[in-house]
Amino acid sequence: MTDSLWWRSAAVYQVYVRSFADCDGDGIGDLAGIRSRLPYLRDLGVDALWLTPFYASPMVDGGYDVADYRRVDPAFGDLDDFDAMIADAHAAGLRIIVDVVPNHTSSAHPWFLAALAAAPGSTERERYLFRDGRGPDGAEPPNDWQSIFGGPAWTRVEDGQWYLHLFDPAQPDLNWRNPEVRAEFEDVLRFWLDRGVDGFRIDVAHGMIKAEGLPDVGPVPGGRQIGLLGKARLPYFDQDEVHEIYRAWRPILDSYPGDRMAVAEAWAETPQRLARYIGPDELHQAFNFDFLDATFTADSFRKVIDGSLAEADLVGAPTTWVLSNHDKPRHVTRYGDGPAGLHRARAAALLMLALPGSAYLYQGEELGLPEVLDLPDECRQDPAFPRTGESRDGCRVPVPWSGTAPPFGFGPEGGAPAWLPAPATWREYTVEAQTGDPGSTLELYRAALRVRRDQPALRDGTLRWLEAEPDVLAFVREGDDGSAIACVVNLSGAPVTVPVAGRPLVASAPLDASGSVTHATPAVLAPETAVWLELSSVG
Ligand code: NOJ
Repeated sequence: MTDSLWWRSAAVYQVYVRSFADCDGDGIGDLAGIRSRLPYLRDLGVDALWLTPFYASPMVDGGYDVADYRRVDPAFGDLDDFDAMIADAHAAGLRIIVDVVPNHTSSAHPWFLAALAAAPGSTERERYLFRDGRGPDGAEPPNDWQSIFGGPAWTRVEDGQWYLHLFDPAQPDLNWRNPEVRAEFEDVLRFWLDRGVDGFRIDVAHGMIKAEGLPDVGPVPGGRQIGLLGKARLPYFDQDEVHEIYRAWRPILDSYPGDRMAVAEAWAETPQRLARYIGPDELHQAFNFDFLDATFTADSFRKVIDGSLAEADLVGAPTTWVLSNHDKPRHVTRYGDGPAGLHRARAAALLMLALPGSAYLYQGEELGLPEVLDLPDECRQDPAFPRTGESRDGCRVPVPWSGTAPPFGFGPEGGAPAWLPAPATWREYTVEAQTGDPGSTLELYRAALRVRRDQPALRDGTLRWLEAEPDVLAFVREGDDGSAIACVVNLSGAPVTVPVAGRPLVASAPLDASGSVTHATPAVLAPETAVWLELSSVG
């Protein structure tokens, strides 16, 4: 791999800034906290960090409601903290990807305040999607669109007009058919590129253009339009004209040295439509949520892997893999929670990290953190919670670093309580408790990331499936230099024979007593366990 193609096989660590490390003791994670933990991240062995929004925001949606795209929220620090953090990250060999939130602003953004103060039809309102309502006196919303967070996607303002918000009312959607909006965001990209960022994660990348005339969706099965996400085209997502935006962004990224990149958070009806976001004149990557949605079975994973690799072939770009993020219950819990869920999560991690393409890790997964299911309702801050009863707070609980009592070193001694409480049981999950314990999940991730870095086959190698017993996934990655690494994952509930001979490099659970796997003594792989083998001869 040439250095300039770093993103093609990078292990990217997602930092949910509010919950990573609190340096100033206000109970909220901050940029100085990230800076102080860069040695941890470097030693973990990741290549890049993706930071969730740290811009000035009223924090209605955890910072995905941006009031000033060029300012750091005081809770997270200031631009000097950002500059110091990125300088140290680069010195440590870590690239920095930042979130950009172009679909909507905060309702506290000066543009929206100006729109509210201005009259219907004004240029100020033209930056957003204001419309007259339907029905007598326009008292009905302009169409039947629903907010992703529940309820109608429209809110009425004092003079009787309505504005569109696909998310919370505090997140008004911008009008991307307005050239002023396009120019503003191109400038925002340049602002952060000038400060040295290596890439952008584009929030709701499929959402900026709405179908002309804002047509109704019509009746949908189950009544909730969100159920159609990724299954059917909605008039507010994945419209063809959205690609014009990325065709304008790409030359901006390309005009900077150092192979800057962008990854889309995009949902599309088919792999072919998702692939349209990627390519030399648009974006570099799109998240592959199918992997996160797969169940812990060989069939489910195999289907997603084959589909994703075929999709990547369509555009000649590597795919991405992700098991958890700040919007979904953590995969330990999705796979059954408790020791069984953790056992499976460890195997899934080795599967993901052995696949071609880049892997996005979510902070805390390297510690095997489960979802916190019993947060008191009054602590929950997800704006969807009051409307849908569902909340994403359980995967956003601050990282446990050290000590035996909450908040486990998240902030300095004597600081304010963390913004979300960690359960007392997390004393077993701290970085301190796991460091040096060869059986810990942290040491498993460290070992796997080290091998992934060191082995060209795992960075660039092609993937070839091997014959294996039912409910076993086995493939080999073969590098140009002749090296080959096999990954064997037993997804069944019974021990299986390993179908290939090689030297074990990393395993998600202890191997057989000898610890070695050879043709002469076919090794057995325990249930729901994964192993990487260095091959001398390919089976
Ligand atoms: C996707 C982000 O990941 C999520 O956290 C946020 O609520 C929505 N976009 C709206 O910005």
